[in-house]
Amino acid sequence: MTVLVTGGCGYIGAHVVHALHESGKRVVVVDDLSYGKPTRIEGARLYGMDISSPGAGERLGEIMSDEDVDSVIHFAARKQVGESVAKPLWYYQQNINGMLNVLTGMTKSNASRLVFSSSAATYGVPPVDVVPEDVVPMIPINPYGQTKLFGEWMARACEEPFGIRFCALRYFNVAGCGPVELEDPAILNLIPMLFDRLKKGKAPLVFGDDYPTPDGTCVRDYIHVSDLADAHLAALAYLDRDERRYDAFNVGTGEGTSVRQIVDEVKKVTGLPFVETVAPRRAGDPPHLIGSPKRINDEMGWHARYGVHDIVESAWKAWQANPEHHIDVDAWKQED
Ligand code: WQD
Repeated sequence: MTVLVTGGCGYIGAHVVHALHESGKRVVVVDDLSYGKPTRIEGARLYGMDISSPGAGERLGEIMSDEDVDSVIHFAARKQVGESVAKPLWYYQQNINGMLNVLTGMTKSNASRLVFSSSAATYGVPPVDVVPEDVVPMIPINPYGQTKLFGEWMARACEEPFGIRFCALRYFNVAGCGPVELEDPAILNLIPMLFDRLKKGKAPLVFGDDYPTPDGTCVRDYIHVSDLADAHLAALAYLDRDERRYDAFNVGTGEGTSVRQIVDEVKKVTGLPFVETVAPRRAGDPPHLIGSPKRINDEMGWHARYGVHDIVESAWKAWQANPEHHIDVDAWKQED
């Protein structure tokens, strides 16, 4: 029996492929290599293909049959919020067709378990600080979040007619690194953006310090990518159980950390004596976004093991291991 991972060469996907191997599972990966690197998934068979292209559902069905796939973990998707606002039709084409083709492939093979990479972006601006899965209303505020919510609906609709067992994991702010070679090359989220500014000798930016939060900066729920990888193994085990009650789960810690607290942790971990600059608020940032992990704790027995210190420390280690990113800490201090 084999697990097919779409997008397995990406940052999160590769961590999950690694965790699946560690747990003794056979893995095949489908990835278009637009961002992923094949060197991250040694030991897994790789099919290079764009799952959103016409006919990809048939091809995925053949791969699932040939490889005796019983479970699918579906990551392959476009994931940049700002880009989705600028190019909504492309996001719908990529992410909705991708999900359509994954489900089509499953209906044409014996693959019957699906774990879908969903997002806290499905909640939009929720009416509570700590969000449970059944909060209403769920109104994503960008096309990226819409495609994730619609992807959940598509998979849910296929459960009954096609005998598919499905669950969605709604990730909060994923960060950090597991094995060093799996570092995240995307410089788009807070921690890599702080490091990137430091690399360029510029002051890191804090987008807004006048939010209605304890220190005025936005509060998020940071989840270590290795904890997130473990949640996927827990989800596969959950799908084998007959007494499943839910199909959507937050993957968060229930703990909020402010931007300012992350900045302070970066100072501690790197030893760099920088002074951050407070910049204007970034459009579309909710003040608080924290996920209640109660459902995944209770139903899957999954709990986050790592905290913010581990996240920043592992991210820094991975950053420093990359020659293109490496910051010479001593030289940096002298320049300063
Ligand atoms: C975190 C906080 C920024 C950079 C996004 C997506 C979300 C999910 C995770 C996929 C915010 C602030 C950032 C900087 C800063 N993606 N910030 N200075 O926006 O919470 O979530 O990634 O599912 O859908 O929206 O994450 O890391 O970009 O920002 O002050 O240089 O850090 O304003 O408050 P975000 P982020």
